[in-house]
Amino acid sequence: MELPFAEAWKIKMVEPIKKSTREQREKWLEEAHQNIFMLKSDYVYIDLLTDSGTGAMSDRQWSAMMMGDESYGGARSFYHMKDTITEITGFDYVIPTHQGRAAENVLFSYLVKPGMVVPGNAHFDTTKGHIESRKAFAIDVTVPEAYDTQLEVPFKGNVSLEKLEKVLQENKGKVPFMVLTVTNNTVGGQPVSMKNIRETCELCHKYGVPVNIDSARFIENAYFIKTREEGYADKTLREICKEMFSYADCMTMSAKKDGLVNMGGFIATNKKEWYEGAKLFCIPFEGFLTYGGMNGRDMDALAVGLKENIEFEMVETRIKQVQYLAAKLDEYGIPYQRPAGGHAIFVDADKILTQIPKEEFPAQTLTCELYLEAGIRACEIGYVLADRDPVTRENRFGGNDFVRLCIPRRVYTNNHMDVIAAALKNVYDRRNTITRGLEITWEAELMRHFTCQFKRLGK
Ligand code: F0G
Repeated sequence: MELPFAEAWKIKMVEPIKKSTREQREKWLEEAHQNIFMLKSDYVYIDLLTDSGTGAMSDRQWSAMMMGDESYGGARSFYHMKDTITEITGFDYVIPTHQGRAAENVLFSYLVKPGMVVPGNAHFDTTKGHIESRKAFAIDVTVPEAYDTQLEVPFKGNVSLEKLEKVLQENKGKVPFMVLTVTNNTVGGQPVSMKNIRETCELCHKYGVPVNIDSARFIENAYFIKTREEGYADKTLREICKEMFSYADCMTMSAKKDGLVNMGGFIATNKKEWYEGAKLFCIPFEGFLTYGGMNGRDMDALAVGLKENIEFEMVETRIKQVQYLAAKLDEYGIPYQRPAGGHAIFVDADKILTQIPKEEFPAQTLTCELYLEAGIRACEIGYVLADRDPVTRENRFGGNDFVRLCIPRRVYTNNHMDVIAAALKNVYDRRNTITRGLEITWEAELMRHFTCQFKRLGK
């Protein structure tokens, strides 16, 4: 008999979690103004809000932390981290930052000026925020397949070269760089193929535009290239990552994802000029160049985390768990962005709460229903997150409206996946009884979804 698949780790430390009653959750959600970001984590049973900084570190990472060098300048820990990044990506210049958006802040402070245009294969919200807050324009040049959730194609995160070329042509001299996000979080944790990475970089370079890879989940992207793209099955993830970065000019990294740490980020590049320019913003915003917002011990944990996660078995364990949950949802007929993404399942709320108009935010409504059902905290990646157009101030209803079930790394077991699927099935089975959605009663100017307040309609 062939042995079944199992995790590439065993558990050494556990954290108890608690269930609650429906009455308690009703009260807590009301107090949180129907925004699950505002809930205390103690009120959550299974937390799928994000895979960012929520993973479990290994015994090797914890022991590396004890060796952290907390020197202000020239810390040994910085060099451990930098050497690991250079070894994996081929980028020689590294600026540490406290997380991914800080890397964006430092780099974009140097590169983005009012009126500029930054194309991307679907900008993440903080990336878009850092562009738009500088009075520049973030333009998504996503492949059209990404918006058809039921279409099963291997690289739905790809850049539309046609749309990209149009932006590059129409905005000559105004494009400081292009952002290539791997995997493409906004459209469902979907990967970008090596062919598309290469062609995107070639096209940008033809127009003299450098490419910055938003790399939060680059190892997961490499896993999909290895398992889905012709010619890569026999290559190691290290070889694949090296090739991915070899076409680009720079990377910004949220190490809280594929770096397997709770906090951290960096910029890495071979463009000396960018390094020199960006480092001037690192010092006032983040800190000195050899810690940039991180503790020495965190940089050591990150060095180990990257080396650990780039092992095939480690990332395979993770992606197979997401696929396990997807198979359960298939069994129950629940629609989601197909195929399952690397870090999450993006449930297609538009196809479930069909009687709720866009203006009443179906995905945010479904997120609340899932919490009320079983204390499971998912996250809306839809019309609330899409925010308003900076010029017209109209809601942006053009994209998908998802509920993201985001799986932290090395945290939950497949029994938890069974609970999540069953809870979602219960909501799905009573979907026709959910006839009204939510109304926004307060929102912030920028990145509203974190703090937005809602009122439940029809209650
Ligand atoms: N880029 C991508 C693709 C991301 O997914 C994130 C964060 C960032 C940049 C910013 O990094 O959080 O370290 O500042 N994504 C998290 C999420 C928050 O839940 O998807 P950060």
